[in-house]
This record gives sequence, C-alpha cells and structure tokens, in this order.
Amino acid sequence: MDQPFAGKVALVTGAGSGIGEAVAMELAEGGARLLVSDLKAEAAERAAAAIRAAGGQALAHQADVTDPAAVQAMVALAESHFGALHLAVNNAGIAGARVNTADYPLDSWQRIIDVNLTSVFHCTKYQVAAMLRAGGGAIVNMSSILGSVGTPGAVAYVAAKHGVVGLTKAVALEYAGQGVRVNAVGPGYIDTPLLSRFDRETHDGLKTLHPAGRLGTAREVSALTCFLLSDRAAFITGSYHLVDGGYTAR
Ligand SMILES: NC(=O)c1ccc[n+]([C@@H]2O[C@H](COP(=O)([O-])OP(=O)(O)OC[C@H]3O[C@@H](n4cnc5c(N)ncnc54)[C@H](O)[C@@H]3O)[C@@H](O)[C@H]2O)c1
Repeated sequence: MDQPFAGKVALVTGAGSGIGEAVAMELAEGGARLLVSDLKAEAAERAAAAIRAAGGQALAHQADVTDPAAVQAMVALAESHFGALHLAVNNAGIAGARVNTADYPLDSWQRIIDVNLTSVFHCTKYQVAAMLRAGGGAIVNMSSILGSVGTPGAVAYVAAKHGVVGLTKAVALEYAGQGVRVNAVGPGYIDTPLLSRFDRETHDGLKTLHPAGRLGTAREVSALTCFLLSDRAAFITGSYHLVDGGYTAR
C-alpha cells in the first residue's frame, strides 16, 4: 500500500466530523501519525478510535481553536507526543446565520470570524513555528467556494472564507523559501453534518447549484487535501484549489 505520509506527524482540527474526519483517516491510511483535534472531545475520541481500529496511530485531543493558548498547547502536544509536526489541516468551522446584512446580528458576525478565520491565524502561527523546527512542512486551510464567490445571507461566512484565502497566500509567501507550503481548499457543498441545518428541500436545491448535479463527499475533499499535503505537490504553495463539481465555473 502507498504510504506517502510514512514518518510524518499530522494535526487536523475539526477532525471529529465530516471533512476533517475523512482527512484524518486518509492521512492515517497514508502512514501519518495523527493528532485528531476537535471542540467536542467525544467526537475526537470516536474519530481517533476509528483510525486505530483501521491500524493507524492517532491521539484524540480537545481544543477550541478560537483560544490561542489552547491552539499553542495543541501544537506543543503534537510535538511532545509524536516528536515533531510536519502536516496540518485547519479545517474546524461553523456555518453562520442565514440573514441579510442589514439584519445580521453583530455577535454572529464576530463568532463566525473568530471560528472560521481568526482560528486559522492561531493555528497557522503556531504550526509554522513547529514546522520550521521540524525542517519543513505543509498546511492546508479549509476555505470554501465562498472563498472566491459570494452568496446572499452569509456575509460573515463569505468574508471569513475569503479571508482564509488571503491569509494562506500571505503566510505562504513568508515561508516558501524555508520549506513550509501553505495552500487553501475550496469545497462546494459537501454532504456532511454541517448541512444538517437545511431542510430536505433546501438540501436537494443545493445539488442543482453544482453542474455535477450532486453534493460532494468528504472523501473527495480529503483526496485534494491529502494531495496538497503530499510531496507530489512540492511546487504548490500559496494557492487556492476548488473541489466543487463545477459550482464556480459558471
Ligand atoms: N460541508 C460543506 O458543504 C462545506 C463546504 C465548504 C467548506 N466547508 C468547510 O469545511 C470545514 C469542515 O466542515 P464540515 O462540513 O466537515 O463540518 P462538520 O460540522 O461536519 O465538522 C466541523 C467540525 O469542526 C468542529 N468545530 C467547530 N467549532 C470548533 C472550534 N471552535 N474549535 C474546534 N473545533 C470546532 C466541530 O465540532 C465539528 O466536529 C469547515 O471549515 C467548513 O466551513 C464545508
């Protein structure tokens, strides 16, 4: 079996569900040792247990990525437990209120920016330092199609996901010469628990937004993410890659 991540240590946030869980599993299948982190301790433990049951190595960890001290401790744990940090996926995120801007609650704006954008700064800040200590590494930040196009009723989410793309480019430029690559992934609508807030009719309507005629799967996002983390993507940094069934092509 191909083991592109043999000898690597990886950290995935929001790894207790959906896309993050799929990425963690695929990294483990590729030979990485994993810190599986999530706000929900039980979800992290369940995902880590699934990896161990499949023969991988994973340690569950609880952290709120909006807390910089918790993020610093998370990165320190990866280094102390596994010896280094080489790969990271900053994937934790939440959906926001579906309200147009004039009525958008101020606290919802702040919450979405904190969880979906500021957290990525916290994570990247401490991960880059650890990767420099390890002699190099690669980071993928989870943006969205809404990192390049807008949608009505989601001003904070759209702003945060565009911000993730900009942050990714800025950090990539700072460390491109020191062996740390940083890229962003932009999924279309993916069939995960994040979409559970939509009723069946809305859920089905989302499919029609994609020329492919369906929602994506977490594993399809994981495939792109893991490619970007692998040495096959050694010349790819500072860029934003879509996995969206054609959503942004029209
Ligand atoms: N599902 C989609 O359609 C879709 C599309 C584009 C982008 N995304 C992005 O992909 C990422 C993963 O989404 P998903 O669909 O797998 O969602 P999900 O809800 O299935 O999983 C998200 C995970 O993040 C965790 N999390 C939330 N807040 C956190 C915090 N403060 N600290 C640590 N962990 C936290 C949750 O506990 C959960 O386990 C998100 O950043 C999301 O914005 C999702």
